Amino acid sequence: MTPHHIAIVMDGNGRWANKRFLPRVAGHRQGLEALRRCIRLCLDRGVGVLTVFAFSSENWARPADEVSGLMELLAGALAREVPSLKTNGVQLHFVGDRRGLSDKVCQGFDQAQRETTQNRDLVLNICFNYGGRWDIAQAAARVAGRGDEITPERLSENLALAHVADPDLLIRTGGELRISNFLLWQLAYTEMHFSDVLWPDFDAVHLDEALAAFAARERRFGKTSAQVAQDARHTAAA
Ligand code: IPE
Ligand code: IPE
Ligand code: MG
Repeated sequence: MTPHHIAIVMDGNGRWANKRFLPRVAGHRQGLEALRRCIRLCLDRGVGVLTVFAFSSENWARPADEVSGLMELLAGALAREVPSLKTNGVQLHFVGDRRGLSDKVCQGFDQAQRETTQNRDLVLNICFNYGGRWDIAQAAARVAGRGDEITPERLSENLALAHVADPDLLIRTGGELRISNFLLWQLAYTEMHFSDVLWPDFDAVHLDEALAAFAARERRFGKTSAQVAQDARHTAAA
């Protein structure tokens, strides 16, 4: 089965550039190409939702020239990529803390979201200035602000990804085996796939490897294997 929702930690841009004696921002530029390719592949493979980690709340700690290079790349991508995403059926969402981002960037986010809101082929969530702890805290603050009781359901409804179901598959490229403050709440039952490939090199072969690995997993959600098999028989008979 193809996962409905794939989340990706697009890691390894800096190392890709270092290996070629290029500045790190050249790796990020190539990473943007890989994202463009990945979006096309997800449309082709029938994935419903793609959520990517583009800039974490911790990435502000990087050297100033790298941070400004990433902001420029974002501004350029907003100006250049939205028209083709719009015609290709992609519905865009920018997810993360807007504080710290320029007014121009925030207006670009809002405009891109407005222009693609009718699209239904692929929901693309770009996590920018995102952190899983920020997300849980802002959801809790919203629930508490209304005077409601804090329950898992209320929190889920107020998280930044409340418009989509939780990810079925998480892919992290670049060889690190960690979450790095990505979707802490939403990954509770997500299948994990870690790849040593550096993000700029991630292509159809690597995506299909991840999809095949996912298809071979048994998702039990706390049940036993026998129960899962019985549920599947019932679903097939219905
Ligand atoms: C991921 O690639 C992109 C961002 C964090 C913006 P890195 O820049 O972290 O690449 P490595 O991990 O240094 O190779
Ligand atoms: C995670 O990658 C963030 C993004 C891909 C945007 P990092 O490269 O920042 O993660 P750490 O710091 O190595 O854990
Ligand atoms: Mg990294």
